[in-house]
Amino acid sequence: MTLCSSPNCRWKVIIVTKRRVFSGMRPTGRMHVGNYLGAVRNWVQMQDTYQCIYAVVDYHAMTTPYEPDQLNQETDEMLVDLLASGIDPEKCTLIVQSQVPQHSELAWILGTITPLGWLERVPTFKEKSDMHPDYLNLGLLSYPVLQAADIILYKAEAVPVGEDQRPHVELTREIVRRFNHMFGDTFPEPQVITKKETARIASLTEPGKKMSKSLGPSSYIAIGDSPEQIREKIMKAVTDTGPSSGDEMSPGVASLFLLLRSFGAEEQYQAFADEYRAQTIRYVDLKETTADVVAQGLQPIREKKQEIQNNKRMLEDALAQGRETATALAAETMSEVRNRIGLYNPRM
Ligand code: TYM
Repeated sequence: MTLCSSPNCRWKVIIVTKRRVFSGMRPTGRMHVGNYLGAVRNWVQMQDTYQCIYAVVDYHAMTTPYEPDQLNQETDEMLVDLLASGIDPEKCTLIVQSQVPQHSELAWILGTITPLGWLERVPTFKEKSDMHPDYLNLGLLSYPVLQAADIILYKAEAVPVGEDQRPHVELTREIVRRFNHMFGDTFPEPQVITKKETARIASLTEPGKKMSKSLGPSSYIAIGDSPEQIREKIMKAVTDTGPSSGDEMSPGVASLFLLLRSFGAEEQYQAFADEYRAQTIRYVDLKETTADVVAQGLQPIREKKQEIQNNKRMLEDALAQGRETATALAAETMSEVRNRIGLYNPRM
C-alpha cells in the first residue's frame, strides 16, 4: 500500500498485483480433447483473473524421438490451436519455451541441486523409457527439472494442468523448498490447479488409459477434427456390452458420459443418466448424441483456427510481445538467482 503523491490528497492507493500462473503444452501433434478439457479450458478461464504465462514447450518435446522439420511445424500448429481455443494474447503472455533462453539456464542451476533419486522415481521417466528404450537420454531424466525451471522462472504460484502432471509439480515444490533452504527464500511453492471432473480424460480405444496421441489417432479427438471424424471415432469407442449390474460404470461408458456432460446440456446428460440407471440405455444413442455435442462444441474452435491460419501476422505479433514480456520477467528472476547462488558478478 502506498500514499497518493498529491499533497492534499488523503487517499491511500492500494496496488494489487495479480497472482502469477504458468503452464505449458508439448508440441507433439495437434491438441486433443484431453489437453483441452484437462488444461486449456482452465487456462482460458484463468486469463481474466491472474497474470498468466503460457508456453509451447518445444525443449520438452525433444526428449522423445522427433523430426526437426516436424517440431517446427507442430510448434506452429499448437500455437494456432491455443489461440483458437481461447488463449488471448491481450490477456496473457504466450511464448515458445526455447525463445526465452533463461528456461534452460535456470534448469541447469536447478539440476545441480536435484538429487538423482528424486528424478528416477518420477513415473513418466519409467513410462517414457519403456516406450523408447533406444532413445534413453539425459534430457528425459531431467525433464521435470526443466519443468520446474519453467514454472519458477516466473515465480508462478499456480499451475493449471491435468492429473498426470501432478507428480511433476510436486517435484517442483520439493526443488523450491531445497533451493530456498540452501540459498534463502527466493521462490513461492506453486500449487497444482486441476478441474476435478475433467482432470483425466480417457482414451477412446483403451479407456483404462488417459487420452494421448501416443495411442494412435482413433484413440483421441483432436480439437480440429471434422464432425465426420468425431462421429467415426466416437461410434467406435470402447464401451461394455450392456448396462452393468452394479453401480460402477465401466471406464469407456463413464468417459462417454464425461464428454457428453463437458460439451452438452445438463438435461441431455441427465436423460441418459436416468436411462443408464433404469438399464434401458442404448449405447448407440449415447454415442450419437455425444458425437453431435462434441462436434458442436468444437465448431467455434474449428472456425477460429481457419481465421488464424489466414492471418499469421496476428500470431507473430503475439509471440513477439510474449517473448519481450517473458524475457523481462525472466531476467529479473535470474539476476536474483545469480546473486543468491554466488555466480561471478564483477560489480561486487
Ligand atoms: P502435455 O503436453 O502432455 O499436456 C498438456 C496438458 O494437457 C493435460 N492432459 C490431459 N488432461 C486430462 N486428460 C488427458 N487425457 C490429458 N492429456 C494431457 C496435461 O496434464 C497438461 O496439463 N510436462 C508437461 C508440459 C510442461 C508443463 C510445464 C506443464 C512443461 N513445462 C510447466 C505445466 C508447467 C506435458 O508434457 O504436458
